[in-house]
Amino acid sequence: MKMPGYGTDDICASASQKILAACNAPDGEVYFLTGGTQTNAVVIDAMLASYQGVIAADTGHVSLHEAGAIEYGGHKVLQLPHKLGKISAEQIAAFLDNFAADANHDHMVMPGMVYLSHPTEYGTLYSKQELQTSMMSARLIISRSIWMVPGWPMRWPARPMN
Ligand SMILES: Cc1ncc(COP(=O)(O)O)c(C=O)c1O
Repeated sequence: MKMPGYGTDDICASASQKILAACNAPDGEVYFLTGGTQTNAVVIDAMLASYQGVIAADTGHVSLHEAGAIEYGGHKVLQLPHKLGKISAEQIAAFLDNFAADANHDHMVMPGMVYLSHPTEYGTLYSKQELQTSMMSARLIISRSIWMVPGWPMRWPARPMN
């Protein structure tokens, strides 16, 4: 089947419509990126303020297998120890609490986002309950197979989306 390029084909148009419907954003626009590393780097840099980092499992793709692309964008990957590739709501909450309680946190990288991949690098999956516990009331952004949580309840303001 011959199609026009640069995302102007019917399949891309159909995918865009499905994404906009799923996001309940009929007036939105969808732009396709060409790879996972690029997508992570673009989304993380777009979502975070310059002084914020992204929490991830120490085995996560952004932690180990993206050749420093996230850090190149100016955002530290804040690694938590994994269990079978996953991190838990309790670990994330403890990390945020420790950050907030640290008298030196003005000198530290502020966590602004949580990165989860589904499946993980170990091939494990988060259960619906794990996600609901972790992400309760958070807005999930799915980019490729990657879930990021900009709405994690924080004691400090994250940069608002445009
Ligand atoms: C979860 C995840 N994120 C990102 C990537 C990177 O994708 P790419 O090789 O297209 O940069 C991969 C690739 O295996 C991946 O599995």
